[in-house]
Parts: sequence; structure tokens; C-alpha cells
Amino acid sequence: MKNSIKIIQPDDWHVHFREGEMLNVVTKYSSRVNRRCIAMPNTSTPITNSIEAINYKNLIQKNSGKNNFEALIPCYLTDNLDIDDFEYALHNNIFIGGKLYPNNATTNSQYGVNDIKKIYNIFEILEKQNKTLLIHGELNRSDIDIFDREKYFIDEELYQIRKSFKDLKIVLEHVSSDYGVDFVKTNINIAGTITPHHMLLTKEDVFKDEEINPHHYCMPVVKNEKDLTSLRNAACFNNSKFFLGTDSAPHHVVDKKQNDSLKAGIFSSSNSIELYASIFEEENALENLEKFSSINGPKFYNLDVNDQYLILDKEDKIVPEYTEEGNIKIKNFYANKKIHWKVAQLEV
Ligand code: DOR
Ligand code: ZN
Repeated sequence: MKNSIKIIQPDDWHVHFREGEMLNVVTKYSSRVNRRCIAMPNTSTPITNSIEAINYKNLIQKNSGKNNFEALIPCYLTDNLDIDDFEYALHNNIFIGGKLYPNNATTNSQYGVNDIKKIYNIFEILEKQNKTLLIHGELNRSDIDIFDREKYFIDEELYQIRKSFKDLKIVLEHVSSDYGVDFVKTNINIAGTITPHHMLLTKEDVFKDEEINPHHYCMPVVKNEKDLTSLRNAACFNNSKFFLGTDSAPHHVVDKKQNDSLKAGIFSSSNSIELYASIFEEENALENLEKFSSINGPKFYNLDVNDQYLILDKEDKIVPEYTEEGNIKIKNFYANKKIHWKVAQLEV
């Protein structure tokens, strides 16, 4: 049994930093272990142009407390983007790619796209510039069950996008189902991020006796045992198409009260790599953690692998209930439960 592991410093390819005091509080939890993070652009005013992207990137970097931490920003795709600015920002690496939010699929997606065919011109630009399309892959329609939104998105939209833009690099974000895993595995130029919560929870942890556990409520919702197993296998074994993306999405506890406007999102960045390490250990796959956390992602995005290392020691720790600072109070994912790894140090 291993008591210590050393991995190339990880990156988190999917995080929400928000704005204002929330951003101030949460950024350091990501930068404490990751060298780079994709900062999702669904802020209250979405990041849709080059100036907003530069400002947001600088703001996050300033708040990270590290001088080599880098925030990578995708453009929030809408059907009225300034196309010249978008092309300019991609060309100058201000945007790493574009994030597709289908309209009203999740938090702050009210500016998202209603008719995806109408932004095929944007996909063409991404493809030409060899930039990535990051997708929240859920179809939110009243006749579609909440557990089937990923499957319907794949069948009714993603399949067609894949077929129409064969060279376009796509990331199916927070893959949540066996069906999604299978689509990523069997298609070209597509990868997937996998969150810790989709490998630790099933729908019984969210929906019980007509009640919702608000702290386990996220989009896409967690699903069945079969889906969880498939995600664990995809992350842990022999697959270069999946990489680390926590989808850590902080909400203030008062917004997590059960009511009609319950906010979806789970905050995990305060213990992210520790949670992943515990999962890989349970799967007897610790030797594959580094590929998932630190190699597959940069390879897909055509970026260099990090040159520092992270050491994790085997040590039990109970996750505190809240992350609390100033006016901010966020419930931690895995609160009051035991994790078995602790970050020891970063070294060159
Ligand atoms: O649960 C989620 N929360 N899923 C998302 O896609 C967005 C995120 C958020 O921003 O809160
Ligand atoms: Zn997200």
C-alpha cells in the first residue's frame, strides 16, 4: 500500500470562480494545487468578448495568491456574438475556445443558445482556428426527463455537430452517464471531463422521499450506479480521452435552501485532488491518477504538461462542513466525511 504519491502538478479543466467576494474566497482553493484552471464564463454578466475575458483572467490570477497560476477563459457563446472580436480573441489566445450552454440548462445559462444550428458559423471558426468547443451537454425540454437530458443532447445535437465539423475539438463537460462515456470513447476529436461528485454520488443521494438534498443538486444531475461505475472506469483505466474537471460551483448556503429557485452546483475545490486520489485508490488505480489529473488534459488542449510536482501523503482528514470567510459561507462537498489523502507539498 502506498503512503505517498508524487504526480505532475494537476490542472482543473472546469471550475466556476464567480465574481466579487465569492471569487476572492474560492480562487485560492483551486490555485493551491492546480497550475491552470478553465474558468467558466457563466458569471452574472457572461464573458462574451475579449475585454471581459482579459479582465476576468487578470482578476482571477491576482486573487490566486500565486505568480504562475493561469486562468484560461472560454467565450460564453450566444447567438449575437461580435464575430470579429471572437476571431481576434481566439487568434490571440485570449479565449481558449467557446462554451456552449443550451438555453436555461443550468446556472446563468439564460443567455445561452436556443437554436444550436444558428451558431454553426461559430463552430466553423473554432474548427478553423483549432480551438475547442466546450459543451454543457444537456437538452432542457419539458418533455425530457431530467435524467435523460444528456442522452437527448447527444442524440439530437452532439451527433450532428460531430458529423458536421469533423476536425472540431470538443469537450463534453462533466460527463454524467454511461451513454455519454460511450459517445466520447467511440468518436474522434472528443474528450470528457469527469467530476468527483459524479463518481461518488447516485440519484438516491439527491432525491429521497420526495425531498431534494440541495448540496448534492447539480447539473447534470447524478444518475445511477451503472453510470457511476462507467465514469469511474473511464477516469481510472486506460483511457486518454478523459481528464480532471471538478465543475466546482460555489453557491452561498442561503441560495441552497430548498425552494423553487434552488441553485445547482457543488463546491469541491477545497478538497479536489484529495477526493480524486481517494477514488483512484478505491479503484486500485493510483498509478493512473497522474494521466487523468495532469497529462490527458494538456495533451488534448495542445498545451505543455506542467513542470512542477505535487506530493500527496496518505493521511485521513475529515472534510469541514463549510468554507467560511467574511460574508461568504459555502457548504463543502463531502462535508463531515473522511478522505484519505492530504496535499503535502509542491516541488520543482
Ligand atoms: O451544477 C452546476 N452548477 N452545473 C453547471 O453546469 C453550472 C454550475 C454553476 O455555475 O453553478
Ligand atoms: Zn460547470
